[in-house]
Amino acid sequence: MKGIDEPVYITQPLLPDLDSLQNEIKEIFESKWVTNHGIKHNLFENKLKTVLKVNNISVFNNGTIALLTALNALNLSAGSEVITTPFTFPATPHSISWNGLKPVFCDINPETMTINADKIEDLITPETSAILPVHVYGFPCDVKKIDKIAEKYDLKVIYDCAHAFSTEIDGRGIGGFGDISVFSFHATKLFNTIEGGCLAYNDNNLVEKIYNLRNFGIKNEEEVVDIGINGKMNEIQASIGLLNLELFKEEQLKRMEVKKVYTDKLSKIKYINIPKMPENTTDSLQYFPIVIEEDFPLSRNQIYDEFKKYNIFTRKYFYPICSDYENYKNLQSSTADNLPVANNLKNKILCLPLYGDLDKKNVMNICDLLKTFSNLK
Ligand SMILES: Cc1ncc(COP(=O)(O)O)c(C=O)c1O
Repeated sequence: MKGIDEPVYITQPLLPDLDSLQNEIKEIFESKWVTNHGIKHNLFENKLKTVLKVNNISVFNNGTIALLTALNALNLSAGSEVITTPFTFPATPHSISWNGLKPVFCDINPETMTINADKIEDLITPETSAILPVHVYGFPCDVKKIDKIAEKYDLKVIYDCAHAFSTEIDGRGIGGFGDISVFSFHATKLFNTIEGGCLAYNDNNLVEKIYNLRNFGIKNEEEVVDIGINGKMNEIQASIGLLNLELFKEEQLKRMEVKKVYTDKLSKIKYINIPKMPENTTDSLQYFPIVIEEDFPLSRNQIYDEFKKYNIFTRKYFYPICSDYENYKNLQSSTADNLPVANNLKNKILCLPLYGDLDKKNVMNICDLLKTFSNLK
């Protein structure tokens, strides 16, 4: 089999046309208003409300600062426990810890890879104040069950939607569930502002609180009413967002084509599983994860290494899982007994390259390589 000359990475950022961006930057430079709730910023927030189908949007300079602010805005009691998933990016549990709260890991559902809603109640104690589930790879959490549990125990719910831009469940924007939802607009995300993110929420009472927290707690020129942070998105980021809003749907269509080829070819290979998006959910097409079963001739790690030899860079998302990190491994909830599904999946999961401009030849090469691996032994 022929190798691939150019490296193929897990993703490529969606970037607007340079001339259009230059026009935007020219306007910003002429206005001299480059950050602090500028014209582009406000326009971007308004447009996002429509795209994400939520009442309120607050944009941020990145998704992690947005997540930190969401947890802070909900006034969770100091030192309380937040139930979350270990099968996520470090930003999720770290945001809990940075707020002086304690992450408690809950195992995941083997089908959706999101937090197992049936296991949450067992982890609730008098110290629990919130649940922080993640729509991992854009697979939706069991929002109905989670919201019911939250209501029963009077808990706040913050959804990490970093992988689920534009996802809809039964026609509802995914950002409209729970108390607050957090999106990341990092360059690796389907929709990006290079760095950036937003909070989406329907409760109008949170607007002022989040506005102040994002800007050092400043209410007006003479009043600082909260212990805020600098989470403001600048005008150039907002311009890239406005331009990429025009492009992301076409990017999704192209990714859909790539996904079709992968699905068609790989579903014929024994011991490779392709997790299936539920019928009532649209796919953000953020990632294309596959599960390498134990009976496949090569392990996930061997496949990852083999691909590298062909200049193909897949990702072991998520390995290690958060409960393996030095700072969390000694938590009571980090034991292997508490997290059997996540610990099993972390050794089998592999994300394949997925982006609109991924050459079909490369997609075929990746599939052919997996077919070749499947015939080894
Ligand atoms: C699940 C998840 N949550 C949060 C973040 C943090 O977002 P950001 O990189 O925009 O800070 C990311 C990724 O980057 C993520 O994948």
